[in-house]
Amino acid sequence: MKKVPITIGVFVVTACLLSGSVAFADMPGANPEELWNYITKVSPYKEWSFWPDHQGMQPGRAPHGPLHKVYVNDRALKSPGPPVQYGAIEVKENYSKEKELKAITVMYKVNGYNPVDGDWFWVNYTPEGEAEPFGKPSGCILCHGTRVDNDFIIVHEFK
Ligand code: HEC
Repeated sequence: MKKVPITIGVFVVTACLLSGSVAFADMPGANPEELWNYITKVSPYKEWSFWPDHQGMQPGRAPHGPLHKVYVNDRALKSPGPPVQYGAIEVKENYSKEKELKAITVMYKVNGYNPVDGDWFWVNYTPEGEAEPFGKPSGCILCHGTRVDNDFIIVHEFK
């Protein structure tokens, strides 16, 4: 293994600790390309879990489509919350009645990203990974904001 001079090591660690928006070195930034890469390659979401009270394919409401699955990573699943822990991700696959995948909507909890609205980074992807809209779309926030006491999460009740 290559040796890294100690001063650089200390600098990197300090920079990571000081940077509020980079909560974990192994997590993507609040950026649609980085997040897509993370959920499809680094930690493929299909290997994640479902909420205990929302398993597998479920009927859904507008605007998300008639059927969906919601995958959650460990940081979400193991949250005693609400609020969930930083680094929590929910990936929702949205299907047509014919069970054709239409869109992938994601909520990613990023420390310091948007404190007034629960620090969620929102993305609507096409099945191919093109993001529109993303960031802090008022549509996502208004609707999910009806569940602000549940950290903007609709499909899961924390016990
Ligand atoms: C008109 C209201 C509405 C809007 C706008 C909306 N959602 Fe949702 N969302 C819901 C409902 C209702 C659910 C529960 C599942 C279902 O019925 O499909 C949900 C569930 C989700 C979930 C699963 C986790 C959870 O909260 O339960 C994600 C992820 C999600 N939405 C992301 C988004 C994103 C990203 C946007 C914006 C691009 C968005 N939503 C816009 C109503 C909305």
